[in-house]
Amino acid sequence: MTDFRDFVNAHKVRMLSELQELLRIPSISTDPGHNADCRRAADWLGNHLKALGCRTVEYLASQTHPIVWGVGPEVPGKPIVLVYGHYDVQPPDPLNEWTSPPFEPTVRNGNLYARGATDDKGQVFAIVKAFEAVMGRNRPPVNIRFLLEGQEESGSKILFDLLAREPERVRADAVLVADTPYYLPGWPAVETGLRGLCYAEIKVRTARSDLHSGLYGGAAPNAHETLVRILAGLKTAEGRIKIPGLYDLVQRPSKQVRAAWKKLPFNERKFLKDEVGAKALTGLKAYTVFERLWALPTFEIHGIKGGFTGDGAKTVIPAEATAKVSLRLVPKQSEKKVQKLLTAAVKKLAPGYADVTVTFVHGADPVVVDVDSTPIAVLDRAFTEIEGRGVVPVRSGGSIPIVPELAKEGAPVVLSGIGLPDDRLHAPDEKINVEQIWKGVRVFGRFFELMAEREGVEGASSNGETASSR
Ligand code: BES
Ligand code: MN
Ligand code: MN
Repeated sequence: MTDFRDFVNAHKVRMLSELQELLRIPSISTDPGHNADCRRAADWLGNHLKALGCRTVEYLASQTHPIVWGVGPEVPGKPIVLVYGHYDVQPPDPLNEWTSPPFEPTVRNGNLYARGATDDKGQVFAIVKAFEAVMGRNRPPVNIRFLLEGQEESGSKILFDLLAREPERVRADAVLVADTPYYLPGWPAVETGLRGLCYAEIKVRTARSDLHSGLYGGAAPNAHETLVRILAGLKTAEGRIKIPGLYDLVQRPSKQVRAAWKKLPFNERKFLKDEVGAKALTGLKAYTVFERLWALPTFEIHGIKGGFTGDGAKTVIPAEATAKVSLRLVPKQSEKKVQKLLTAAVKKLAPGYADVTVTFVHGADPVVVDVDSTPIAVLDRAFTEIEGRGVVPVRSGGSIPIVPELAKEGAPVVLSGIGLPDDRLHAPDEKINVEQIWKGVRVFGRFFELMAEREGVEGASSNGETASSR
């Protein structure tokens, strides 16, 4: 047995500076201006995996956002653990709300602040360092493979296409995905489900060009007004989404599940004050906060573009307006089905004088995970040893598009990470707690060790291409 605590203590200064190196790369996948940075982050990880002893490291399917495929030493007869994660990050704006710049990783009060610190570079890094720790012995306990992508934050198209061509990449005995947080400090979680996503752009055109609001106002249609009326028609002030058919696809979680959620420690006032930072929560009051966050769909407006928003005043009737919107989806609400429902609802709300189009940007299907799997039991043991508490089953409102594909060859997927609930992912001052990284190295290292006590069910013949399924 490797003493992972000793490993962490001996190497944490170096490891922290390595992670800072990775976090300095602004690998923002949604912005083509950062293509070269995405590539640099992939190279950083690939070079690292190679140096740690991966016998194969490949950059697949893209020059700019390659999938990093790393195959550890072959360990005959032992299970295959596939590690999935992403090296891309969300845009860092608004920049002036960061205490220290997003791509200058800085430690304050035991936290490491940077874009990507917890989502997902810091968590991927913890697993890579666990790999380093087990590689320090003659041979690692299991067959370890890495599938690290650079497009998770923008829909994972490259990886979807790759796995359609090469589904055997995900043949494994377990898929480990560390891209979600603890439930509370000291309370590791395993997600039993993730919401899906349907991200769309609604564009309204009402005239050939912008018009003088004095000369034409009163008789000419206004694109912004038309757009906001459509948007307002899609949801009531009470939080009910007015897309016909949408709620027909919602399955209420079972009584047992709801009872289990009721038992989770949850302080609504603290959640409101410390995490949300608002005066009140909104949404369907007949449902608990967990149901609203985990088991019901949402409709959000992300931004509205068009017309005049500069300094001063301009008297203009805008001819075009665009809104970026999205829905979070719950089990049974596939992205495809909801795209159709949204388009139909918008078309019905659109007045005859306007050209209204709905286009889809990206999305994800919802995920349900069976948590009675062997790898989850193994991870539960690892957390119990190191954290003094096993994993608590929860759902999460976030999405990870590729997860359904990761499960397609039958491997149980484990969604469990080392972030904390106040990590502020996608927001200013994103951070990861430094102690959580070290716990992560120990837990994932122990997970690899304990997985070795299980047989690879069909025996792992692992040339990196023909992994065994369960
Ligand atoms: N890691 C998150 C998803 C997440 C966070 C799930 C916390 C559960 C708990 C992931 O990187 C993410 O942000 N996904 C996007 C997906 C989208 C851009 C297709 C999301 O949920 O908005
Ligand atoms: Mn993520
Ligand atoms: Mn994210």
